Amino acid sequence: MCGIVGYVGKQKAAPLILEGLKRLEYRGYDSAGVAVWQDGHFEVAKKTGRVANLEKEAARHKLVGSAGIGHTRWATHGGVTDANAHPHLSSDGQIALIHNGVIENYVSMKKFLLAKDYTFKSETDTEVLCNLIAYHYAKEPAVAGESRLLESVRKTLRHVEGTYGIVVMALDLPEELVTARKGSPLILGLGEGENLVASDVAAIVSRTQNVVYLKDGEIARLTPKNFAISTLDEADITPVIDKVNWSIADAEMGEYAHFMEKEIFEQPVALENAMRGRFSEDGSTAQFGGLNITPGEFRGIERFMFCACGTALHACMVTEHLIENFARIPVECDYASEFRYRNTPLFRNTLFFVMSQSGETIDTLAALREAKRKGYKVLAVNNVVGSTIAREADGGIYQHVGPEVGVASTKAFTSQLLIGAMLALYIGRMRDLSFGAGVRYVNALKGAPDLVRQVLKQAPHIRTIARRYAHHTDMLFLGRLSLFPIALEGALKLKEISYLHAEGYPAAEMKHGPIALISEKCPSVFLAPKGEIFNKIVSSMQEIKARKGPIIAIVTEGAELPPGLADEIITIPECHEAVLPIVASIPVQLLSYYIAVERGCDVDKPRNLAKSVTVE
Ligand code: M6R
Repeated sequence: MCGIVGYVGKQKAAPLILEGLKRLEYRGYDSAGVAVWQDGHFEVAKKTGRVANLEKEAARHKLVGSAGIGHTRWATHGGVTDANAHPHLSSDGQIALIHNGVIENYVSMKKFLLAKDYTFKSETDTEVLCNLIAYHYAKEPAVAGESRLLESVRKTLRHVEGTYGIVVMALDLPEELVTARKGSPLILGLGEGENLVASDVAAIVSRTQNVVYLKDGEIARLTPKNFAISTLDEADITPVIDKVNWSIADAEMGEYAHFMEKEIFEQPVALENAMRGRFSEDGSTAQFGGLNITPGEFRGIERFMFCACGTALHACMVTEHLIENFARIPVECDYASEFRYRNTPLFRNTLFFVMSQSGETIDTLAALREAKRKGYKVLAVNNVVGSTIAREADGGIYQHVGPEVGVASTKAFTSQLLIGAMLALYIGRMRDLSFGAGVRYVNALKGAPDLVRQVLKQAPHIRTIARRYAHHTDMLFLGRLSLFPIALEGALKLKEISYLHAEGYPAAEMKHGPIALISEKCPSVFLAPKGEIFNKIVSSMQEIKARKGPIIAIVTEGAELPPGLADEIITIPECHEAVLPIVASIPVQLLSYYIAVERGCDVDKPRNLAKSVTVE
């Protein structure tokens, strides 16, 4: 969850590392730090809070060296203090280290090191790892043509239980970084006379678009002109150099106040990108390049299982509804974090899917591995090219929406909804969905970006509504069928960015408990599109109104509600069932966003959260 950047080259390392850390801040923002090798010592600056605090601190330290490491922290072991911020130095001052992950056996290691007179300044597992490397480094003989640092990191990691993405420097090797991963992403950036390493492409793309994605169990040594990768078992790896297909401008905020706002308004284009080239020539179905499964094999699937976390799980739930409805195949969805520990009976001929924007969520990755261990094929819907999930899945579908920086997922979510709808179409057309119904479905999906544009035009109206409700402390989101997951998503969005208590419920379920919360102080957002159960939803609204609960109704244009029933009305255009969840997501995203803004919350970096959750 933490952000990592390392640089070795001819430029001053600190400004490049700080720039990279700013781009990684969404990964963790409890504290940040940088260490640079200069004049025979490590100059270290670290500070709790945002990278902006670190910048001020770094200015005091006059960091001029051309090799260094930097880190943004999301606290696991030890509180949010300057001492616990990374980089950590070993007590003999020889080793500097940054780390993402959790060292599970750090207690026994620390005991061992204390007995050898190593001392500790922080409460972190990372400082223990740093000292253990120093211990091995001190004992490692210098062998011509071999890296002492690499060997001692290798030896140390053989004793480590847990997860890590680390970058290490040694005091007597000013032009060398050693980096290794197990469970935490690391990417090498290959430049001209300089090399970089980071937990995320965003931190290095301003310097180079040539990257190598490290795999679990790999360790790399970087110098300004060279890099070499091997495994912990000392096998040499031939690197595969990839080209990043987006530029730094994609990860900048431009004219917007927040990344979340930018990403909400980017959705029409994001949807266009996610569907580009993915419809058949006859315009009646979807097609995907990377499924690695033949139509015949697909035809034999009798059940689907979807696993994900948070927002991505809500996208899976909508997909479940659409596949069951259009392809008539049973689908099960589960929290990835539960699936990995539940001993779920799985049917034969089940195709397993995971969804993950980042492709690094540890619970989703663990679910993927568990399903593969049981012998199932696992496909992934994923946004970040080269992510661990993308690489470990048997095939999959990239979302192609560019970097999503706001911690609250928006454009990644609607593109997952789109891909889910396309999957339902693809499978449906192999079964009972007719050519004509397929063509109508495809045309509806193609029209989705324009419908989203129409809803976005209501932003000023939704902002006015947000102002009226921003001071409330509780809110319900109610929807039915494919919009029940959108109600869950609305509640999640509001909770995470505005710290307001919100719950999502199936609208009719509300009377089985949550109705007790209703009063003039608890507004309800109803997702009430035109359709066969519109009148049932109106009845649920009446039940809320009878108890003085304020109602914000999201209804189809032209819908007739009994006069005075809704306090606020937001309209969405009439649309195909496959497109409805996408279109209905926009008002709940905008409402949550504007409420958070009204409440003065830090929208892009909500407290306690990180964009990508790479620890359990
Ligand atoms: O990267 P992933 O899609 O795997 O992330 C899963 C969740 O952590 C994520 O969707 C989270 O719920 C978001 N902050 C929601 O806005």
